[in-house]
Amino acid sequence: MPKSFTTLLDPDVVRDPHPTLAELRRTSPVVWDPVIETWLVTRHEDVKAALGDPRFSRDRRLTKSYTPPDPETWAARHDEYTMNVSDETQHRRWRKQLSAGFTPRAVRRMEGLVRAVVSQFARPLIRRRGAVDLVAKFTNPIPNTVISRITGIPPYPGEEDRFRQLGQDVIRQFFPMADAENKRRGEQAMNELAEWIGKLADERRQEPQDDLLSDLIVGNQGEDAMSNVEIIMQIVVLVAAGSETTTLGGTHAIRLLLEHPDQLALLRADPSLTRNAVREVLRFDFGGAGSMPLVATEDLEIGGVVIRRGDMLMSSVSSANRDETVFDAPDRFDITRDTRETLTFGSGPHYCLGANLALQELDCMLEGTLEFLPEGARLIDDELEWESIGLMRRPVNLPVDFG
Ligand code: HEM
Repeated sequence: MPKSFTTLLDPDVVRDPHPTLAELRRTSPVVWDPVIETWLVTRHEDVKAALGDPRFSRDRRLTKSYTPPDPETWAARHDEYTMNVSDETQHRRWRKQLSAGFTPRAVRRMEGLVRAVVSQFARPLIRRRGAVDLVAKFTNPIPNTVISRITGIPPYPGEEDRFRQLGQDVIRQFFPMADAENKRRGEQAMNELAEWIGKLADERRQEPQDDLLSDLIVGNQGEDAMSNVEIIMQIVVLVAAGSETTTLGGTHAIRLLLEHPDQLALLRADPSLTRNAVREVLRFDFGGAGSMPLVATEDLEIGGVVIRRGDMLMSSVSSANRDETVFDAPDRFDITRDTRETLTFGSGPHYCLGANLALQELDCMLEGTLEFLPEGARLIDDELEWESIGLMRRPVNLPVDFG
């Protein structure tokens, strides 16, 4: 093990994982973290292979260290019912039930809705002066509003803020190494969301509407019919997987462009670079050093290291995205580079179901930003606040001086 590596939980690693990940790629590409009790894989080739390897499961109940949550809690139901932790047969079933709503064609149909939501939050920022927090005013509300409109929850205006807060509380309890407070708040939020979605599901059974919640009910009849718990869990996964992540992508996108004025100027001069700029943001700076845990279902070997059945493994996408054997000068933020090997949406059968939607939202968010952000706008560095949750570190705000 390299001298400088003790654990991914080291606050210096959480603050900036890249120097440590670069060293691990060079010296110990498959390394044991004795504090988290997980293997960490850092080279692009190994990260991609592990994500697509059927011998790894996302079902954390298979880990040796799994402590079952109280069976009456939503944390327990989450471990049993959600697509991103379930195994093959169940996974295929749930993924099929949801996927029709997320094909490239379906997402193109949503473009008008996404544009309308982005414009709702971008319009008030045009010709603004002074300091503006773009997380609060722009990147935070958009993804959750989009997902609540698509799913059909909540149907009434005015409830979107509460819905957004619940979605964010839910996802934080599932971040690797989330603390007790995040778990407690997550459980509370799940109770409220479950009641909300369950009631709406009952209403949609009586009177279907033009939304995903109704599609899940109408489109899955007979032996495919979904129970209320299944519906609640799949919708919660969409809300949780689709809001905080996309908010983070949008926040990093604006931050990185403000920190790299040459790249911002390039994008202003050639807006056809937007999609690649989004991909470069996701490559350059997205999550923390770890990943959602995988569990080995049999003894196997990666790079000469034996992983035992039941061992936990994190496939470090952040590290893969900076692998110098795949990306030229990986520590340079360059919106014109070839970004095709970026792994931020995962790889293999669990590849992010919402990737097309997320990319479309982020494209629209960047286009909206270029419209409202005046030339000369600057990031107010000393007011930028960061928050660490487990292995992740994220900006809580994005203070920008509009001049
Ligand atoms: C920038 C935004 C996003 C990022 C970076 C992201 C990333 C990911 C990653 C890394 C995975 C796990 C892949 C794996 O296990 O191999 C995943 C799974 C998933 N994501 Fe996303 N995601 C984003 C946005 C969204 C959105 C907008 C939605 C839907 C509304 C969504 C829905 C899902 C679902 C349902 C899964 C589980 C897929 C499965 O297990 O088959 N995500 N996402």
